Amino acid sequence: MQKKEGFTSKIGFVLAAAGSAVGLGNIWRFPYLTAKYGGGIFLLTYLVLVLTFGYALLVAENAIGRMTGKGPIGAFREFCAGKKSFLGSVRIGGWINSIVPMIIVPYYCVIGGWVTKYVFAMMCNPVARFSKDAVEKFAGTEMAASTAYFQNFVTSTWEPIGFFLLFMLINVIVAAFGVEKGVERFNKILMPILILLIIAICIYCGFLPNAGAGFRYYLMPDPAKFSYMTVVAAMGQLFFSLSIAMGIMITYGAYMRKEDDLVSSVNQIEIFDTGVAFLAGLMIIPCVVAFGGEKAAESAGVGLVFITMPQVFASFPGGQFVGVAFFILVLFAAATSAISLLETNVHTICQELKISRAKAIFLNVMEIIVIGAVTVLGYSVLSFVKPLKFIPKYSGMDILDTLDFISNSVLMPIGAIFTTVLVVAVIGIERISREIRGDKKWYREWVFQFCMCVIVVPCLLVVLLNATGLLG
Ligand code: PFF
Repeated sequence: MQKKEGFTSKIGFVLAAAGSAVGLGNIWRFPYLTAKYGGGIFLLTYLVLVLTFGYALLVAENAIGRMTGKGPIGAFREFCAGKKSFLGSVRIGGWINSIVPMIIVPYYCVIGGWVTKYVFAMMCNPVARFSKDAVEKFAGTEMAASTAYFQNFVTSTWEPIGFFLLFMLINVIVAAFGVEKGVERFNKILMPILILLIIAICIYCGFLPNAGAGFRYYLMPDPAKFSYMTVVAAMGQLFFSLSIAMGIMITYGAYMRKEDDLVSSVNQIEIFDTGVAFLAGLMIIPCVVAFGGEKAAESAGVGLVFITMPQVFASFPGGQFVGVAFFILVLFAAATSAISLLETNVHTICQELKISRAKAIFLNVMEIIVIGAVTVLGYSVLSFVKPLKFIPKYSGMDILDTLDFISNSVLMPIGAIFTTVLVVAVIGIERISREIRGDKKWYREWVFQFCMCVIVVPCLLVVLLNATGLLG
């Protein structure tokens, strides 16, 4: 992303953007939210939002980047230049879009650290170790061994910090030496393997006793389980997973060549990202239900993939090796996303503070270490810290959940509102549509225009009001 010459081919752009889009959001975040918010109804809400809302914003951000050749701050500034009063102030949207990845990257590295730990955990005999640790710390409780193992790990003080730093270091080294291209090449082979492995695990899970109930939970929407929170959570997930409302797609758009077809590139990213999330849900949710019933699914939290997948791997001979491979592949998917988050931040810091790349990396690393360490300790010595204590609805949220909530359910909707206002009121919907369409036919143009002009802002306002605790 550093070099100004941009992507040399359309497939280069799609792969880079997909590498950034497909990550922990698809494999860690999507399944646990789906399990928690009612299975099928969440899936349906999510799909509807991706095809309308998510699509419109994804196209808009890429177009904004391509039209200006700049990152979010520069692009907003350019379009708002010379505009008076309200329209001129829309430029702060560029800043909001740029701050979000700075909040995400520390806790992304914390979860990346958990994945790294599980690569090692799977290498040792997981079943025996899970049982032993469970007996040590959670003796007398009814917890499944893998749940206890996970709890034991995250609530210890130093181990999660060590793995968090290890994961961060790997990514910083890659970014510092500018070897992202090498990683992307690797990823071209590893991503398809990850997808094949997920499909194979899905098939295996289909034969688990009681898996049918799990498939029903995931695939059959139950309207009784629908609430405001379904939409809020699905919306936050959409931003996180498609990497929108955080400046990244604007930056990618800036590196795209004029002659490349923006519409079909965006279609591919949308399909790819949503496809991987869907498969990850298809793999994990039937297993949760098979092992623990619907209750277990509904009480799912951030540990879901770490608790359920080891149970699956422990249930068949040779599962340990499959487990190691699985977590290594997830680690790669997480790393490509983390690197692109880091790149976005470094790019913003370099440009806005006018400092060297080395200094910008240093500043970003310091930020990650401080916020990331506090996040990890939020499960142990700082577990009494509940940052949103003053809002009754969120009074129990720990530090990681709070960072996740503030970025995905508060700042991203605000950033997306600014992007929409920029598109509709500053640039003009017709002008941007022309840029996107080029001389080709664009079948979903009406979806784009309708969402941008009518749907996005009111919907996001509802999400925001709900997020503040005033609604629902
Ligand atoms: N979309 C990524 C995921 O689903 O894991 C997360 C992400 C990566 C967000 C890179 C933003 C970004 F710049």
